[in-house]
Amino acid sequence: MTHQFPPGFLWGAGTSAYQIEGSLDADGRGESVWDVFARRAGAVEGGGDGSRACDSYRRWAEDVDLVAELGLGAYRFSVGWSRVMPDGRGRIEQRGLDHYERFVDALLDRGVAPVLTLNHWDMPQALMADGGWAARSSVDAFAEYTAAVADRLADRVEWWITQNEPWIIALLGYQLGLHAPGVRDLGASVAAGHHVLLAHGAGADVLRAHPGTQVGAALSLFPCDPATFTEQDAAAAWGSDGYVNRWYLDPLAGRGYPADMREHYERALGRPLTEIRDGDEAAIGGRSDFLGVNYYTRRVMAAAEPAPGRPFPWRVVGPSGDVARTDEGWEIAPASFRDLLIRLHREYQLPVVVTENGGVFGDTPAHDGRVHDVRRSAFLRDHVEALGQALAAGADVRGYLHWSLLDNFEWALGYRPRFGLVHVDYVTGRRTIKDSARLYARIARTGALPADDEPIAPFG
Ligand code: FCB
Repeated sequence: MTHQFPPGFLWGAGTSAYQIEGSLDADGRGESVWDVFARRAGAVEGGGDGSRACDSYRRWAEDVDLVAELGLGAYRFSVGWSRVMPDGRGRIEQRGLDHYERFVDALLDRGVAPVLTLNHWDMPQALMADGGWAARSSVDAFAEYTAAVADRLADRVEWWITQNEPWIIALLGYQLGLHAPGVRDLGASVAAGHHVLLAHGAGADVLRAHPGTQVGAALSLFPCDPATFTEQDAAAAWGSDGYVNRWYLDPLAGRGYPADMREHYERALGRPLTEIRDGDEAAIGGRSDFLGVNYYTRRVMAAAEPAPGRPFPWRVVGPSGDVARTDEGWEIAPASFRDLLIRLHREYQLPVVVTENGGVFGDTPAHDGRVHDVRRSAFLRDHVEALGQALAAGADVRGYLHWSLLDNFEWALGYRPRFGLVHVDYVTGRRTIKDSARLYARIARTGALPADDEPIAPFG
């Protein structure tokens, strides 16, 4: 049985500035941490960077046309932080804001709701002089940037995402050094994660002075399941849930940091978490109109002794046996998506917007010029069905934004993984609508999943 989604449900797709724009020197843009990190030898698979990407800074009107042609009601994009604040603080680059204003107006003209992300990982490099997110001064810098963008756009953009994936910033950017700025220090990662959340609070305070805005942070949430039914693995799964999910969910929901995970951090660092000061938790909580959820897969966990490179008593073992996987090897787990949305409703009570969900499927144009990405279509169907089941069970989900509109620069993995509903030829910049996008257009138009055997006409 297919679920009928409520009228007004937001169907859309997402991208982010550094992953698609290119034109890194245009209109007075300053350097971002990703410009610098991508130059490190070995940082990016294949040695690529964002200097050209999908060329969207120049081809933006074509991207707006694509979104409109697919009949999507929403488009999530990010403002390049260093296009607006090239020096990190102080001077505002009006040409950067002019670009996003034109872009937002074009979306609105086509009846597409802009969903604007402020920090999708491209902090101005100038802020690294203080330590980037590891420094508390990043919070004020983010509030300053938020005010600059809000003063220009909050009269017409309703949906605002302050931060994209605080855990991934802390983990890959400051703990493992696999993303910009490439820091490897557990203590710095705790500070960075905390400042990212504080900056959400500070940014939300700026935005909430503009009536009609809806503000949230987008979290990368991974349901954590025990590998076996032993007590030890159950504890490992709960610990991992604290590390990945509750450390961010609890303070955003106004509950402060979870005590069990604070103990894990304090034990691993051998010191109290002094970066979390009195009053900080009150400055993070109670400021979200919705929770952004990025969902890709689940984590299957087993107990393990802490070891070098493994600060906590658990490890990811992955699912046993043969499971369906994307081309990146991630388990395809739509039932976990459904359960996650139901859990969020029961335990946190915040309205949810699914701000990312998608998979890597490497299909490219066939001899007929089309991209027959049947596995992405199946992935989409399965996850939209799971979403419908969560709604039927009472979850308050307001929208679903597929990742991604376009194949794009996938950070340290470079250009190999293709996440797009639309194929991009990186040599010519040419965009080709994939079969999955045709299915998605159909879902967006009707608010329901078509039957399995129903042919998908091109936008009929
Ligand atoms: C998320 C990021 C997004 C993209 C997808 C695949 O972690 O927010 O930019 O890289 O994963």
